[in-house]
Amino acid sequence: MKKVAILVSGGGSNMLTLCDSMVGDHPARPVLVLSNDPAAKGLERASARGITAAAVDHRQFGNDRAAFEVELIKLLDAAEADIICLAGFMRVLTASFVERYTGRMLNIHPSLLPKYKGLNTHARAIEAGDAEAGCSVHIVTPELDDGPILGQARVKVEAGETTESLAAKVLVQEHRLYPAVLRRFAQDQRGVLELT
Ligand code: GAR
Repeated sequence: MKKVAILVSGGGSNMLTLCDSMVGDHPARPVLVLSNDPAAKGLERASARGITAAAVDHRQFGNDRAAFEVELIKLLDAAEADIICLAGFMRVLTASFVERYTGRMLNIHPSLLPKYKGLNTHARAIEAGDAEAGCSVHIVTPELDDGPILGQARVKVEAGETTESLAAKVLVQEHRLYPAVLRRFAQDQRGVLELT
């Protein structure tokens, strides 16, 4: 059974769908939910499901990302995490942290990568007049929102679409895509999953 740690910064709706998917014959189980923000709602939600939840407050480390990450590493290693899922984790991680978990850290990003790395993805898709938007799950590499894509799901951008309406539609797809990709990944299945 693979052990999965999930890193969140906010509400953790993707984290919950991941946790809820890891039941029955699923090859993995959630062992830790970790946040950079002690007030993240996702922590309470994980605890309420009986999952160990912990925070390392990045603000206590100022600009010292390495010191912040040392504390993350202690908790991840104590939990013996095999797979790390970033799920709305909004801190940029250093190359040395990413390299420690090479090939076993996943991220979900709310755009059809390689388009719109970084923030404000939905506004940028609407602004560009894109006919479709979506989300991607990829393996984390030191470059931001880069790394091999494991799966994507698409939505249509309708006339009059707002960033809020588009974000809501994409989030529904995120909740389908991330659990599906994690299951395949935990089974060592590779290739790109295209959800329709
Ligand atoms: C999700 O839309 C996720 O794709 C995005 O943050 C949201 C978190 O929601 N992640 C990023 O933008 C990462 N760069 P959640 O806390 O409800 O899962």
